[in-house]
Amino acid sequence: MRMSVIGCGYLGAVHAAAMASIGHDVVGIDVDAQKVAALANGTAPFFEPQLGELLQEGLTSGRLRFSTEMSEASGAAIHFIAVGTPQIAGGHAADLRFVDAAVAALLPHLHPGDVVAGKSTVPVGTAERLSAAVAGTGATLVWNPEFLREGWAVHDTISPDRLVLGVPSGSDGERAAEALREAYRPAVDAGTPFLVTDLATAELVKGAANAFLATKISFINAMAEIAEASGADVALLADALGHDTRIGRRYLGSGIGFGGGCLPKDIRAFAARAEELGRGEAVGFLREVDSINIRRRDRAVQLVVDALGGLVFGRRIAVLGAAFKPFSDDIRDSPALDVAVRLRGLGADVVVTDPAALENAAAAHPQLGYATERDDALRDADAVVIVTEWDLYRREMTPEHAGSLVAGRVIIDGRNCLDSAAWRAAGWTYHGMGRR
Ligand code: UGA
Repeated sequence: MRMSVIGCGYLGAVHAAAMASIGHDVVGIDVDAQKVAALANGTAPFFEPQLGELLQEGLTSGRLRFSTEMSEASGAAIHFIAVGTPQIAGGHAADLRFVDAAVAALLPHLHPGDVVAGKSTVPVGTAERLSAAVAGTGATLVWNPEFLREGWAVHDTISPDRLVLGVPSGSDGERAAEALREAYRPAVDAGTPFLVTDLATAELVKGAANAFLATKISFINAMAEIAEASGADVALLADALGHDTRIGRRYLGSGIGFGGGCLPKDIRAFAARAEELGRGEAVGFLREVDSINIRRRDRAVQLVVDALGGLVFGRRIAVLGAAFKPFSDDIRDSPALDVAVRLRGLGADVVVTDPAALENAAAAHPQLGYATERDDALRDADAVVIVTEWDLYRREMTPEHAGSLVAGRVIIDGRNCLDSAAWRAAGWTYHGMGRR
């Protein structure tokens, strides 16, 4: 099928490349000429495993191209809207400027029978609001939320857990659902659940999924606070809870909490929309989820301060990690960098290292010290803080090797990802988050 993908960020670039890889003829469109030039060259403008290969393959086959011209969308049967919906400046709601602009710019290039499929994360009611303008061209607007995780984006796009599609009622909606089923044929044939809903439900599924994930993480981090006060161990608690198949162990990873370009802003936008709908009370707990999350960053900083005898001024601290999670170079609302910035604010001599996100971190926070190599960050450190659980720190760094480099064997495990016994046995003072 011929498709256009409007917006070539984390979501759109991966979607365009993935759709081309399953045989579609795809044009990716973005207003950022630099991004388009990189993509057209087969270079992923951000770190995402497998994306580079997929781009190369698509460009070579001729099934994938990129452009800054919206007119290139003309002739496509499906137009995916994949632009960002950041948090609005000075508020909690989602900023829909880019979605509105993308749809408005697309309108003159739509033909009767086209399908416009929104993928961006939007507050419930957005699709309904945009529908009339799209219908005026003879095209149909549907909403097809995306659940991909950064770092696993290619896998999640090609083999999703489920496909969700919100359509308007009537025959236009049915035809659009058929078109999307065809677009995702390999996944549908492989038995991926394909849920067709109304527009509002599809929009809500996305917000609710991220709200649930954030709540699960904050739940275990709240338990970490209780564990700290009672002498229990939250990592063992999470294992024990996780064996209950009704609960499950995934997203019960305790530590400095969630960040990134999605969960934090999505739970705020979800709550803001609920307020607008007069149902703020129903999701009042999301404010608590947010607070618990931010408190864990404070706690990590406090652990470092306490471990160094109450004062970090002038002390050298190796901060291992800057990305909001491993397999990403994304530093948007990164708890890892937040901890580093706070320690620097207390006068510590902070040296941050990260295998992928260093360039982004240095551009955003030039006041921090940086080391490209992990061992250079560790050298002469008075304390080590793990804030992003890359394998380079979690698996490939032994307590003995790290111990031979540092000035003081003090480690704060902000992701509860190390074997505390092994580190203690090697003479380290180990502090986890909510761990004995
Ligand atoms: C999240 C959702 O998982 C995706 O399903 C969704 O499509 C995406 O947002 C989006 O809305 O676009 P992502 O932001 O890539 O994906 O990252 P996650 O893997 O969910 O991690 C989010 C944060 O939670 C990270 O900072 C991670 O370190 C933290 N986390 C995750 C924990 O602290 N504990 C856990 O157990 C899991």
